[in-house]
Amino acid sequence: MNIAIRYYTQTGNTKKLAEAIAAELGLEAKPVSIPLEEKTDLVFLCNSVYWAGIDKAVKQFVLDNADKIGTIVNVSTAALIESSYGQMRKLASGAGVKLCEKEFHCRGKFSALHAGHPDEADLKAAREFARSVIA
Ligand SMILES: Cc1cc2nc3c(=O)[nH]c(=O)nc-3n(C[C@H](O)[C@H](O)[C@H](O)COP(=O)(O)O)c2cc1C
Repeated sequence: MNIAIRYYTQTGNTKKLAEAIAAELGLEAKPVSIPLEEKTDLVFLCNSVYWAGIDKAVKQFVLDNADKIGTIVNVSTAALIESSYGQMRKLASGAGVKLCEKEFHCRGKFSALHAGHPDEADLKAAREFARSVIA
């Protein structure tokens, strides 16, 4: 199975998750500014919400790489909302890309909220999630 890991981060939280997943799968986590090179079965797309929305760089990645993405696996951090999955569903659907039913979400530090997150337990859970997706 061909797998890629992409992330978008503003304050580093999502990059931590992406790198934990990458280490677990023996792959490299790359920012969404790096396009996919080839048709890819699974793309772990690590993202967050800013002012209630997924960043336009993530949206652009999905649109620009739609023909190469087999299935998106949504991985998100946020301070308030429970997950970006609903927004990703709309984005993937609009681009004609499949979205995995499994997702990973955890809290991400934002100002005084959720200090230290993602923490070691979050990263462990993300690694286990990645393993379960490819099992
Ligand atoms: C500018 C900004 C706006 C944010 N807006 C929201 C928001 O509307 N809802 C929410 O749940 N979290 C919000 N957050 C919290 C982020 O989703 C959370 O801190 C996330 O882990 C950031 O990921 P990153 O460090 O990879 O950029 C915001 C964070 C920033 C920096």
